[in-house]
Amino acid sequence: MTELDELYQEDREPTPPPHPRILSLANQKGGVGKTTTAINLGTALAAIGERVLIVDLDPQGNASTGLGIDRRNRNCSTYDVLIGEAPLRGAVVATAVPRLHIASSTMDLSGLELELGTTPGRAFRLRDAIAALNKNAAPDTDYTYVLIDCPPSLNLLTVNAMAASDAILVPLQCEFFALEGLSQLLQTVEQVRSTLNPNLSIHGIVLTMFDSRNNLSNQVVADVRQFMGSKVYDTMIPRNVRISEAPSYGKPVLVYDLKCVGSEAYLKLATEVIQRERELRTH
Ligand SMILES: Nc1ncnc2c1ncn2[C@@H]1O[C@H](COP(=O)(O)OP(=O)(O)O)[C@@H](O)[C@H]1O
Ligand SMILES: [Mg+2]
Repeated sequence: MTELDELYQEDREPTPPPHPRILSLANQKGGVGKTTTAINLGTALAAIGERVLIVDLDPQGNASTGLGIDRRNRNCSTYDVLIGEAPLRGAVVATAVPRLHIASSTMDLSGLELELGTTPGRAFRLRDAIAALNKNAAPDTDYTYVLIDCPPSLNLLTVNAMAASDAILVPLQCEFFALEGLSQLLQTVEQVRSTLNPNLSIHGIVLTMFDSRNNLSNQVVADVRQFMGSKVYDTMIPRNVRISEAPSYGKPVLVYDLKCVGSEAYLKLATEVIQRERELRTH
């Protein structure tokens, strides 16, 4: 092989992705597994070596509570960041999981839309805050993944998340009305892509609360796979009582019970997400 060939080969090595990769957990339906997936996919990614920041963009603050962040430790929250009174770093706290941090939220967030009114650039508040995040980070301490936990509506908060994201990850509950509302969500993604963020893509759809003994669950899976094809991850998250118990202990399920089927599923999902990232980069 000549030197030039070698250089060419080097050039063709997949380049590492620009840090961080920003993914939003979005679905305007409540109770479909957005927060559970943010917490546990975040934990699983951190467990395999990624440096992860979860941004809690739901006024309910379930991601913050589920990771054991006491309300007293939320003096600076994502509200302060979006209103422009603090940098995102200021709202970040470490969790008990190594390499997993969170910017928590408080109920103040629910007033943001009214407060910002028609302020120019109001849809880009989060994008700009994240852009500043890794700037002064020491090497090997910058985040490789930012996961944004969206509220259950298509409001200014979700639009901020979509405008800031490389891609959307949609948790879909295996229930009768699973597909209802999906087209509206996809329409919103399309709108954001054509106006605010041309790079936005759908990373994938993750089926949650799957119950193999339930015929309906199986039918929903078949329908969603037929409708959305390869956009649906192979990994499905089973309905698992350990997953629902863990937040009340302020722990991700992977910490609460590493061996349960729920933990195994989230580890598998993390591997699939990283695999898809690689494919996206080489295409
Ligand atoms: N795979 C699962 N198995 C059992 N319970 C789950 C599972 N995923 C989520 N839950 C429970 O369902 C409820 C709604 O999930 P959550 O992640 O808060 O949804 P969202 O953020 O979309 O509103 C929570 O009580 C959560 O603990
Ligand atoms: Mg939630």
